Amino acid sequence: MGLEWLPLQALQHPQDIPETLEQIRADLGECVRCRLHADRTHLVFGEGSPAAKVVLVGEGPGQEEDRLGRPFVGAAGKLLDLIIAAMGRRRHEIYICNVIKCRPPGNRNPHPDEIQECGPFLRRQLRAIRPKAILALGSFAAQFLLSSQQPISKIRNRVHQFEGIPVVPTYHPAYLLRNPIQKRQVWEDVQLLLSLARGKN
Ligand code: URA
Repeated sequence: MGLEWLPLQALQHPQDIPETLEQIRADLGECVRCRLHADRTHLVFGEGSPAAKVVLVGEGPGQEEDRLGRPFVGAAGKLLDLIIAAMGRRRHEIYICNVIKCRPPGNRNPHPDEIQECGPFLRRQLRAIRPKAILALGSFAAQFLLSSQQPISKIRNRVHQFEGIPVVPTYHPAYLLRNPIQKRQVWEDVQLLLSLARGKN
């Protein structure tokens, strides 16, 4: 006797069935896994299309993001909006998220134990979306995704991999606000990202 009568899903291991972003968000819940929950107003999970071809990954929420519960809506976000528009994309067509989901007090750098608690949720988000390419904004995103300690200046404008998904590291928009001279480099990195998203690389 064949297995025709078995529902297809019964032949798959549960770990083979990708999670949805909703399931991951529900699992995160009103997270108290690290100390950052104590001062947050809103957890910033991420937003955009679950079918995005391009995902932008930042570091973590700042003051405005914490206030509104949305990624990149402060000053760096305004610059990112210009970059997204120059890419010929709209926010709802891509996906934007961060390594950590809660704002560190005073916008300090995330601590290693905070990244360790929160990072697995970013991994799961990226596995759920499986975009064609990821833009890693700044050193925290790049170091997390590539498990590397190298500075952005050494790894930018090259194609790296996160679980088989191409990753292009570039400067964080907040850094770009302070160093507008680097805009040309970021634009080069974005061109590389777009060529990957179009499948020309
Ligand atoms: N900086 C980040 O890295 N992420 C945000 O969401 C906002 C500012």
